[in-house]
Amino acid sequence: RLSERTAVFEPSIPAYDDNFNYDFMVALVLLGYWALLARRLYRLPHAPTAARLRRSSRRLAIAALVGALFVPARLVTSLVLYGYGWHFAADRLLIGVPLVALPTLATLLVTVPALHRLGRPSPDDAEEVAAPPASRAAAAPRVSFPARAVAVGGLVSFVMILFAPAPPLLAPALVSYGVVAPVLVVIWRRHADRVRDGVVRPLPRGAARARRVAVATAAVLVLVGGYAGWDWQTSKLPDDYRMTEQAMTYGTGPGPVDHSAHSHGAGLPDRPLTQFTGPAGKPDKRFTLVATDARLRLSSGATVDATAFNGQIPGPELRVRQGDLVEVTLVNRTTDTPTTVHWHGLDVPNAEDGVAGLTQDAVPPGGSHVYRWRAGQVGTYWYHSHQASSTQVRRGLFGPLVIDPAPPAPAGVREFVVAAHVFDTDKGDTSTLNAADTLRRESVPPGTPVRIRLINADNFRKYFTLAGTPFKVTAVDGGPVNAPTDLYRTKLMLGGGGRYDLEFTMPSAPVRLTDLAAVGAGLLLSPDGQGELAPLTDGPEFDATRYGSPAATPFGPDSDFDRSFDLVLDNRPGFYDGQPYYLWTINGHVSPHVPMLMVREGELVKVTISNRSFLEHPMHLHGHHVLVLSRNGHRATGSPLWLDTVTLLSGESYELAFRADNPGLWMDHCHNLKHAAMGMTMHLGYEGISTPFHAGRATGNTSD
Ligand code: C2O
Ligand code: CU
Repeated sequence: RLSERTAVFEPSIPAYDDNFNYDFMVALVLLGYWALLARRLYRLPHAPTAARLRRSSRRLAIAALVGALFVPARLVTSLVLYGYGWHFAADRLLIGVPLVALPTLATLLVTVPALHRLGRPSPDDAEEVAAPPASRAAAAPRVSFPARAVAVGGLVSFVMILFAPAPPLLAPALVSYGVVAPVLVVIWRRHADRVRDGVVRPLPRGAARARRVAVATAAVLVLVGGYAGWDWQTSKLPDDYRMTEQAMTYGTGPGPVDHSAHSHGAGLPDRPLTQFTGPAGKPDKRFTLVATDARLRLSSGATVDATAFNGQIPGPELRVRQGDLVEVTLVNRTTDTPTTVHWHGLDVPNAEDGVAGLTQDAVPPGGSHVYRWRAGQVGTYWYHSHQASSTQVRRGLFGPLVIDPAPPAPAGVREFVVAAHVFDTDKGDTSTLNAADTLRRESVPPGTPVRIRLINADNFRKYFTLAGTPFKVTAVDGGPVNAPTDLYRTKLMLGGGGRYDLEFTMPSAPVRLTDLAAVGAGLLLSPDGQGELAPLTDGPEFDATRYGSPAATPFGPDSDFDRSFDLVLDNRPGFYDGQPYYLWTINGHVSPHVPMLMVREGELVKVTISNRSFLEHPMHLHGHHVLVLSRNGHRATGSPLWLDTVTLLSGESYELAFRADNPGLWMDHCHNLKHAAMGMTMHLGYEGISTPFHAGRATGNTSD
């Protein structure tokens, strides 16, 4: 009964990382096993006696049969990954498994029968030395070569797991087969040429052997070093570039969208994004945000070297009414921190989006910039710097933004806007709610309607609980939930950048909001501001895709999409801007080399995102809200879910849709801002629109 009412989704997804690791282990053991087996087979002709040669042949035949089982094992581990979606297994099923399956098949068809013949008992068994006919037969390439091919295929297949090829898989397929083919030709030559004057050539020994090892090692070092050096050099970011310059046409749709750097696509006139500004006229609301250097003292006493808007962290709450024309002046009074303001979750005109190097230049110390936009949405949003955002947001340049509905909201609602954030303090990383890291108490009379506007201003997902009362989630990312139902003792996962509105009627006993990363902190509401209530530390997990009731949407899973894109989020070793990292990639690339999503104004667009990496990624698209069509292959069945930040846990996949109705050049990035700063950033571009702004060291603009 309870779980029926709480829209539970558990477990979020069965241990993707475990299943990935099983596949990894099978691939690794397969490689080791076949490398050893290939070596034994190659040495078979050099058995000291004919009897030993026969015995070894029989054993090696069995070893090959056993080794063949690795192929079905790898197929099973790949199919388990396929259970998470096609992109979790495509590289394995199309490249990795065939690379070992084909030579394994050759081993079974050719090597095993040959070994069987070699292993037959014979009167020669009494002889001391393996007779040339027997050893010659054992030196035939059919005995040793297929196993060596399995080992080579196994090596490439294993390395492929590490480098995680993403769709389209043609290039990785060509590289894999392109590496394997010439290597096998060289190996074949050696295996086919072992008998001289009727005698098997001796194995190289002493200096000859040392030379071979040295040559092989040098070749590997040159190859690996050459690749790493090339990657290192080409990863360096140019000092001055356009964020969208290196984009390509991409995806499926009605013919490619033209995107030359200063695009005149399809005969469209070039439109610089600077023309997409907010409306003119007298603003209904005016605000000034003054950025300054600051020193923040948390409620525990821990201190933070910070940067603040109007001397507050979080910055002042900007509260406007739907329909208001809002004008915000950013004034930079820091000593050395160029900055901007981005309106997270607001679908503002492109030139007002606040992205340094894309929609404007960073505002230098002493400078100012005016933003104007009409509040078309309602709900809970936030604003933050979009210049060097991974450092500036972390240091405090963010604040809440609330848009009230146009007709006056029912009076008497007690509101708490709560922004969760982690600060680097003198006492280490500290989780806070509104910069408080200790319990905050508030008194609320029983019977009062209460709304908590929860903002995750941190990089990582957070789990929240509300103890002491049933509650409803009435909005997600600002968008209202249709027909929300009561939740009891439910755990709410909120990804970085995301928001939930929670509503309940104040009971006569305490209610406690807890961020599970800091159970001692939190918000305790009680009739008299006193009292105690233990934090709720666990519970079934909320699933927004199954919560509330369906309602009409302008498009849905069965619509005809004009364009669709596939994005795979992953990890691989590599360099970013000349530094070695375990990279966070989108389709194998890091910014600014991630192909841009190119659309035409008015198109209906579908985006499928799969997260193959081991961490969650809150993917945030600027300027648009996406409708969630499905999660992990299951259609969304609850209230229509419109998100600006979609958090994909490890192993998850989402199908999303949006209407390309806000022309411009828009960021689409992981809102773990550290990931974004290390390349997990791409763009959505409308055909025919260009930016006059440049990014890169020489320009002072760096969005992430
Ligand atoms: Cu809240 Cu591009 O960011
Ligand atoms: Cu990320």
